[in-house]
Amino acid sequence: MFKFIGSVVQQIKDFIVKNPKLSILIIFVLIVGWVFVSIESLHLTSEPEFCQNCHPDNKPGPYGEVYTWKQNIHAKAEVKCLDCHGMPGFTGYMKAKIGGLRDLTNFVLKPREHMTRILNMASTDPHYAAHLVPNDICLFCHTDSYNQKIRSEKLMSVGVKFRKMDGVKNPEFRRSYGLPDILTEKLRGDIDPNHKKHLDKDVNCVDCHLGVAHGGEFRNKVDLKRCAECHEKRASEISMPDIKIGSGDTAANFSHKNHTAMFKCDECHMKLFQMKKGTAKIAFDDHGKDKFCYSCHNNKIATFECNKCHAKIGAPSTPITYKTVGMAPVIFSHEFHTAIFNCNQCHTKIWPMKHGVKKMKMDDLYQGKYCGLCHNGKIAFASTACDKCHKQK
Ligand code: HEC
Ligand code: HEC
Ligand code: HEC
Ligand code: HEC
Ligand code: HEC
Ligand code: HEC
Ligand code: HEC
Ligand code: HEC
Ligand code: HEC
Ligand code: HEC
Ligand code: HEC
Repeated sequence: MFKFIGSVVQQIKDFIVKNPKLSILIIFVLIVGWVFVSIESLHLTSEPEFCQNCHPDNKPGPYGEVYTWKQNIHAKAEVKCLDCHGMPGFTGYMKAKIGGLRDLTNFVLKPREHMTRILNMASTDPHYAAHLVPNDICLFCHTDSYNQKIRSEKLMSVGVKFRKMDGVKNPEFRRSYGLPDILTEKLRGDIDPNHKKHLDKDVNCVDCHLGVAHGGEFRNKVDLKRCAECHEKRASEISMPDIKIGSGDTAANFSHKNHTAMFKCDECHMKLFQMKKGTAKIAFDDHGKDKFCYSCHNNKIATFECNKCHAKIGAPSTPITYKTVGMAPVIFSHEFHTAIFNCNQCHTKIWPMKHGVKKMKMDDLYQGKYCGLCHNGKIAFASTACDKCHKQK
């Protein structure tokens, strides 16, 4: 055996001595070939088709990861397995490949239950998922600041492009898809939980976006139950900011904090309110109906006192005086009328909440309009009882 190897080595030596140029060429070709085969095998063993050998199911759930990825918007954007299952940078990629070798050995050596258990855990436990796919990976593509930070700190490539992530440079990349920087820009949809605040408190992408690539949908919807679950658990850390609804004199103050102490998110969201400031358009006519704030603020579950919500609105305490030519002035008392009627019996069906907008004539009153709606001799004294309204003070 040793003799045989020895003679082969001797023959090679002789060949090199006789053909030095040709030998260098052959060695060069061998090295290039080896590098090429290695890179190709790295590429091939990173492709979804390769993963499918062991993750083969054609339905959502454990073993169906390639199938669900194919349904997902990330697949359409050619964001592949190793773009999320490997940290950014060259070493991140190589580590992921070594992790792949561990999967391979476990596949051969351990029972199938082992794999099933791991896959189940990864897809249902946000803690485990966050360890599997840490925030840095997602932030690399979805923000500018992390992208630039990591690009400046890490070796991104060694001349060969192993995956899409290697070439991701923000803001150019995300803008080419119309994606916002989730830490600094407005989101496109109707829900904005404030990504930055959550990340600052060490909340992970997968705490909210679990199943982002493997939920089985094209666009993964965040399950709002997760918001309520965590907010309940970490209530002491969380102080939801107040929301001012509307503007001007009719603006209402809403304390998110006080209400979330009493109610779960889904008692308001999304059936009464969207999760975006300024979406609810509340008119005076909605007051008193089973809508918006008033499905609770109906004097049963909660108060319907104007001044609880509005700083400025309330019936004026001084009577409204109408001067009339040749007659004593008309004096209308809110104090008197609101003791009998709700605001919405007069506002805004008959009058807006502003003095002097409607031009009233006695003929209108006689025909049952304005004051005449009640002052018709049935509900209240008739509009012909001149001096009951036209009073000298
Ligand atoms: C030879 C079979 C095999 C192939 C091929 C394979 N996997 Fe796996 N994979 C496994 C096994 C077995 C596990 C169970 C976890 C363990 O034992 O490490 C697993 C687990 C995983 C996990 C969860 C890892 C964890 O630590 O919880 C991910 C992510 C994963 N594979 C991704 C991939 C990707 C991406 C590819 C293709 C690049 C791939 N797998 C190809 C066998 C395989
Ligand atoms: C956009 C990022 C992203 C891409 C692309 C992606 N994954 Fe995942 N993957 C995740 C996240 C996040 C998890 C953690 C659990 C979850 O959210 O479902 C995960 C979990 C997994 C798991 C653990 C078991 C499970 O079902 O959750 C496997 C296996 C897996 N991915 C394989 C793949 C394979 C194979 C591909 C490519 C065909 C791929 N992933 C592409 C983000 C991604
Ligand atoms: C390699 C870059 C890249 C990585 C890594 C990546 N994404 Fe994406 N993501 C994209 C692109 C590109 C789109 C937009 C595709 C489009 O709009 O056509 C997208 C879209 C999204 C969307 C919006 C679509 C939807 O499902 O509603 C969410 C949410 C999202 N990604 C979350 C994540 C999370 C969470 C991670 C980490 C687990 C992640 N992404 C990792 C590139 C990436
Ligand atoms: C507190 C929960 C929460 C966390 C944590 C979270 N997200 Fe989101 N994210 C959301 C919600 C809610 C939306 C809006 C979804 C919708 O409109 O359906 C969203 C939307 C997005 C979008 C789409 C933006 C758009 O305008 O289309 C991207 C991309 C995204 N998140 C990425 C991430 C990444 C990356 C992380 C981790 C760094 C992360 N998110 C962490 C809740 C969260
Ligand atoms: C894993 C825990 C966790 C989950 C899940 C979570 N949150 Fe939070 N949320 C927090 C913490 C912690 C804070 C406090 C942040 C602070 O005060 O800086 C917070 C604060 C907030 C705030 C106040 C932000 C501000 O401007 O001060 C809003 C709004 C909010 N969350 C909405 C959501 C929504 C919507 C979801 C679901 C899509 C959600 N959260 C899911 C932990 C969570
Ligand atoms: C009593 C009702 C109520 C409850 C309970 C409630 N909200 Fe809200 N929420 C509102 C109202 C009202 C708005 C503002 C809507 C508008 O202006 O159109 C709002 C707005 C939001 C917004 C958008 C904030 C912004 O700055 O754009 C988020 C995010 C939100 N809520 C999350 C939550 C979460 C998470 C919970 C549970 C922890 C919760 N809400 C519980 C009534 C409620
Ligand atoms: C799910 C039921 C519910 C909804 C919806 C609701 N509230 Fe309340 N609200 C309550 C309860 C219960 C109280 C405490 C009892 C009371 O003050 O009558 C309260 C108290 C208040 C208070 C007094 C305490 C404080 O927080 O300052 C104000 C003001 C208020 N709500 C405003 C609003 C506004 C504005 C809206 C709509 C944007 C709204 N609420 C929607 C149930 C609700
Ligand atoms: C539970 C809280 C709440 C109570 C109680 C309440 N309102 Fe409002 N009101 C609101 C909100 C919220 C708006 C919407 C503000 C906006 O978008 O400008 C509003 C709007 C209005 C508007 C403006 C409507 C429009 O079409 O522009 C008037 C006027 C008004 N309220 C009068 C009253 C009067 C009078 C009362 C007492 C009978 C009252 N409100 C009680 C919450 C309340
Ligand atoms: C019986 C009918 C009636 C009832 C009930 C009523 N109002 Fe009025 N309100 C009026 C009339 C009439 C005006 C003046 C309209 C005009 O001059 O065009 C008025 C005007 C107002 C104005 C504008 C004042 C100004 O100087 O511009 C406010 C504010 C107002 N009402 C609030 C309320 C509130 C709050 C309630 C319930 C607590 C209420 N009103 C109940 C009839 C009523
Ligand atoms: C929703 C019905 C209603 C409307 C609208 C209404 N009133 Fe009255 N008013 C009453 C009732 C009921 C009484 C008490 C019964 C009676 O005295 O006949 C009353 C009493 C009065 C009184 C006597 C009590 C006092 O305040 O001195 C005056 C004056 C009066 N109304 C003026 C007006 C004027 C002016 C208008 C229009 C600007 C008006 N009312 C609109 C129902 C109404
Ligand atoms: C229910 C209360 C009420 C009664 C009763 C009433 N008025 Fe008037 N009157 C008004 C109001 C309100 C106006 C409008 C004031 C304004 O807009 O400046 C008005 C306006 C007038 C005007 C000036 C506008 C026009 O229509 O020419 C005259 C004149 C007048 N009244 C005469 C009378 C006479 C005469 C009677 C008895 C037959 C009478 N009013 C009974 C409430 C009343």
